[in-house]
Amino acid sequence: MTNLVLVFAAFNLLPLFVLVSSADYNTFLDVEQKNYDRNVTTTINPKCPTNECVNFTLVHVQQEGIADVLHHIWTMENVPTFFYARTELNTEMLIDWEKMLSGNYSQAISFNKEPQYFAAVLIFKFFMYNDLNDTGVIPETDNFDIVSYSTKKMSWELKSSNCSGNISASVAFRLRSYDGVELDSSSNIEITLTAYGTRGRSPILPHLAFTENSTQVDFVFDHVETKESFTNARLAMELAAVVSEPDSRFTLNVSQSLDDEYTPGVFKLMEIHSALNQHWIQWRPVCYTSTQRDIGDSTGLYQTDIRNVSDDNILDNTLLEWLSLDLDTRFLLMKGFNVSFGVEGDGFYRASNYTAWTLVTGHGRPVGDQFSLMVILVMAIGLGLPAIVLILGGAAIALRNHRNSKDDLLLSD
Ligand SMILES: *[C@@H]1O[C@H](CO)[C@@H](O)[C@H](O)[C@H]1NC(C)=O
Ligand SMILES: *[C@@H]1O[C@H](CO)[C@@H](O)[C@H](O)[C@H]1NC(C)=O
Ligand SMILES: *[C@@H]1O[C@H](CO)[C@@H](O)[C@H](O)[C@H]1NC(C)=O
Ligand SMILES: *[C@@H]1O[C@H](CO)[C@@H](O)[C@H](O)[C@H]1NC(C)=O
Ligand SMILES: *[C@@H]1O[C@H](CO)[C@@H](O)[C@H](O)[C@H]1NC(C)=O
Ligand SMILES: *[C@@H]1O[C@H](CO)[C@@H](O)[C@H](O)[C@H]1NC(C)=O
Ligand SMILES: *[C@@H]1O[C@H](CO)[C@@H](O)[C@H](O)[C@H]1NC(C)=O
Ligand SMILES: *[C@@H]1O[C@H](CO)[C@@H](O)[C@H](O)[C@H]1NC(C)=O
Ligand SMILES: *[C@@H]1O[C@H](CO)[C@@H](O)[C@H](O)[C@H]1NC(C)=O
Ligand SMILES: *[C@@H]1O[C@H](CO)[C@@H](O)[C@H](O)[C@H]1NC(C)=O
Ligand SMILES: *[C@@H]1O[C@H](CO)[C@@H](O)[C@H](O)[C@H]1NC(C)=O
Repeated sequence: MTNLVLVFAAFNLLPLFVLVSSADYNTFLDVEQKNYDRNVTTTINPKCPTNECVNFTLVHVQQEGIADVLHHIWTMENVPTFFYARTELNTEMLIDWEKMLSGNYSQAISFNKEPQYFAAVLIFKFFMYNDLNDTGVIPETDNFDIVSYSTKKMSWELKSSNCSGNISASVAFRLRSYDGVELDSSSNIEITLTAYGTRGRSPILPHLAFTENSTQVDFVFDHVETKESFTNARLAMELAAVVSEPDSRFTLNVSQSLDDEYTPGVFKLMEIHSALNQHWIQWRPVCYTSTQRDIGDSTGLYQTDIRNVSDDNILDNTLLEWLSLDLDTRFLLMKGFNVSFGVEGDGFYRASNYTAWTLVTGHGRPVGDQFSLMVILVMAIGLGLPAIVLILGGAAIALRNHRNSKDDLLLSD
């Protein structure tokens, strides 16, 4: 009887030990050591002669760690490009503003020591498509039901920035015009970038995890005017990534979590990583349809397969060309994919006229779904308490049996 109770108790507690040791052990260690913090310094248009950069925005975020520095460069000029390079400590980024502003941008930005690694995420196009069959998936090839908007024709303004802190940096851009035509004042398209010097979770839903090496990119499409003839209009966009790795292959990994404590109603986490696992992009298949970002105001999204993005002139006059790196942009291999917002049956973009989506991109390894201390405690109580009751109960029974047998012995005396 006693043995049976013990075996049962052990089985009951086993999952708990496994969970604690595998899921959160590393996190606990990190919290104790804290040696991953990076000191964040942010400058907009560093060292630009004041009056000359009014129509130009280049954000430089330096994240200094104990062994290296990550230099992020974010710009919306020509093609929105979110670049970072990992360099040795005390490496400086230099911008030849004269060259930059004269229109001869080529190799105007340099590092005084060659970066150890670099990668970038670019946004090439936004799409509006007529989802006739209500599938939520943007057609594979251009056709009459798709209008594409090249980001090269877009002009963005810096809406707000927070560059003062040394633990995070944040800038928000708003689309000002497309092909010279001002965006309607009732419409708003915004991209907000945030980098942190430490690890944690974003305060805004879907509460994606960030690391000291990552950048969060948040998109808002508010009251975008859709084409009148598109009865079932949906929005989509084309993202691309480039890495300084010999093999430019990227793989998509979808993981399914057991609980949805960080993002109510969403159990999936999508992750794309480079062949050497150095660069990643992560998101949840959810977009919010109101500023409240409530679970009730959300819908899904789909991404297409990752493919080669190759077009001879695609990188002309983009940040990648302005950088003086040991490479020729013409031979950089880019991988891209489309993300289309909304899923079947959600009533299309017009159901809310609002879409907000967030991704995180970074260097190193992303943070997957882990059980938080809270969930572990709940499980420990849920699983452990019955086990303790069983053990104590078993012990009591064993003790009583023992006593009884003693009593029996005494009686038999
Ligand atoms: C940020 O600045 C504060 C005060 O200047 C300093 O105590 C802290 O160590 C800095 N944080 C990092 C990550 O360098
Ligand atoms: C963080 O960087 C700033 C600017 O480079 C520097 O003044 C400050 O001393 C640094 N803080 C630490 C803790 O390294
Ligand atoms: C900035 O843009 C405005 C409007 O497009 C233009 O009038 C102005 O000349 C530009 N300034 C510079 C320094 O390029
Ligand atoms: C652009 O800059 C490069 C290098 O400084 C120079 O060789 C070239 O002549 C410049 N081109 C123009 C059009 O100014
Ligand atoms: C919609 O569905 C019909 C019938 O299944 C098919 O013939 C048509 O090609 C589909 N249209 C699109 C845009 O996918
Ligand atoms: C995204 O969709 C458009 C329109 O169908 C297509 O032209 C483009 O090749 C797609 N991009 C990727 C990377 O699949
Ligand atoms: C700017 O960021 C710091 C943290 O780095 C934060 O404490 C502060 O509240 C932010 N300021 C604004 C206006 O958001
Ligand atoms: C994909 O995700 C699963 C679950 O998080 C993980 O076990 C696996 O190692 C991942 N695969 C790659 C190639 O990272
Ligand atoms: C993508 O580019 C790589 C490198 O050039 C090439 O090996 C591969 O076949 C291309 N894939 C497709 C589908 O064209
Ligand atoms: C969204 O915009 C369209 C076109 O302007 C309008 O017909 C529709 O009623 C709007 N939807 C909501 C929920 O306001
Ligand atoms: C951040 O990057 C450094 C290398 O610069 C790496 O050692 C560290 O493991 C990375 N952190 C994460 C969470 O990937």
